[in-house]
Parts: sequence; structure tokens; C-alpha cells
Amino acid sequence: MARLSVLHFPDKRLHLKAHEVEVIDEGIQQLIKDMTETMYYYDGIGLAAIQVNVQKRIIIMDLSGNDEPKNLMVFINPEILSRIGKVISEEGCLSIPGIYVKVLRDEVIQFKYLDIQGQEHKVECKGLMAMCVQHEIDHLDGKVSVEYLSPLKQNLIKKKMKKLFKPV
Ligand code: NI
Repeated sequence: MARLSVLHFPDKRLHLKAHEVEVIDEGIQQLIKDMTETMYYYDGIGLAAIQVNVQKRIIIMDLSGNDEPKNLMVFINPEILSRIGKVISEEGCLSIPGIYVKVLRDEVIQFKYLDIQGQEHKVECKGLMAMCVQHEIDHLDGKVSVEYLSPLKQNLIKKKMKKLFKPV
């Protein structure tokens, strides 16, 4: 396994759109392993392939608490089928470390995805999982959570990130 580097906002590559995975081959399986190592290393709860500069529709998540066993979830080609209600969600992101953004999300979603064996599943979820799935699918569509904020706030975060990741 290898840890991958995570792109940071305002990197333009975070705005690329990911393509559907057509074949779940060894390359895709290796990518998922590497994404997993990367997400755990940075203590994230979700990661989209776009964030490691791979434009494929793959997201991984682990919403288990600190003293619970790990629970890795892998969603390939995830697609939201229905949405009910609205809720404000406060979200962090490995591409914008240290910044939490309030986003209006759908409260309950139904989505479909392929698992690592290529089997299709449909799931209904709410709460943290629903918010996380929406956040990660946004990444696959080239959208970063800060883009829900006003241009003024976005600029402040841009400046902060540029300072934080200034090349030394
Ligand atoms: Ni994110």
C-alpha cells in the first residue's frame, strides 16, 4: 500500500469531474487500498478519488467512533436516487484542513453504488452518513464544500490555505 498525496483547496484539479468506473480491475482495487491508507493516515472520515488526483467515481468512508472497530465503506459509481428534507451539516474536509463549513444538505437520501465485487446495492441513509455521501459525491462532480459559501468567505479560506501550504 502507498499513502497518496491529497490535493488542497484551491487546487484546480479538485474541480475536475470524475468518470464512471467501468471495470473493477486490480488497478482500481489497489487505488482503493491506497485511498484507505491515506484516509486513515490523515484521520478523515471520507475521501473521494478526485482528492488524490484520480478522476474516477470512487468514494470511501469510515464513520466509526474512536473506540469502535473500523468500518470501511467503499462506494463505486455512487448515485443519489432520491432526497427528502433539509438539514444543516457542519463539514470538515481533508482538502481544506482545519476548516469547517456549514452546508445545507438533504436529510434522508437513497443512493445506489457498486461494491468492490461489482455488485449493485441500494441504501437509504440519514445523519452523518447521508451528509458524508453528499459531500463525497460533490467531490466527484468537482465541487468543494467551501463553494457553498459567499465569495468573500471563499477568498478568506483560499488565503488561509495558500499560507498553510506555501512551498518551503
Ligand atoms: Ni471533502
